[in-house]
Amino acid sequence: MLITIEGIDGSGKSSLVEGLKGRLSDLSPLYTREPGATWVGDQVRRAIAEQVDPVTEALLFAADHAAHLATLVAPAIREGRIVISDRYTDSRYAYQSVMLDGVLPEPLAWLRAVHAGWTIPPDCTFLLVLPVEAAMARLPAHRTREHFEEGEVLSRVQRQYLALAEEEPSRFVVIDALGEKEEICRFVADEIRTLSGSRRPRHRS
Ligand code: TYD
Repeated sequence: MLITIEGIDGSGKSSLVEGLKGRLSDLSPLYTREPGATWVGDQVRRAIAEQVDPVTEALLFAADHAAHLATLVAPAIREGRIVISDRYTDSRYAYQSVMLDGVLPEPLAWLRAVHAGWTIPPDCTFLLVLPVEAAMARLPAHRTREHFEEGEVLSRVQRQYLALAEEEPSRFVVIDALGEKEEICRFVADEIRTLSGSRRPRHRS
């Protein structure tokens, strides 16, 4: 089963994933992320830092996804494991369709065509949503901002995420990322447990 966590920079994905690790340890999920921890992922990070042109960037992210699928996601799914990915294809559909706006006539259709036939769609996607100002306030102040982290870009990316969620309501679970951290984590962990069909028997208190 493939679960993905999505949201704009500063939406709290990483701390959610950290929290899930404690709560779902009995299910032994494979935790992973995009851009991945492979040499392709390193090239993607380098490309982001050097601000390559948006088509190159989109194709590098897609290449990273292909490597991620082949080396980690597909084998784990074949073994019947639960895979939890911090960012996945919807990151491209949200971020790159904004970055490619004005560069290509139909960025989202192009991105979907690039993935068609080989990607594995997630079973469930948790989308963390919050006001962009709140997300930006959470980003470390000392960090050099990536070009994705401008307020205007993030607003457009979040709108795109919400449009994707609206298109596929049965796959997306939209979460108010301003909610209490522990509560969000408990909710997502419970949802994943239900999806996996192995809900732990509740202890009486
Ligand atoms: P990530 O490593 O998740 O961010 P962080 O620096 O907060 O750990 O991702 C780096 C950036 O890359 C982030 O701004 C989102 C962007 N991104 C895309 O634009 N497209 C993609 O397909 C992916 C996976 C990430």
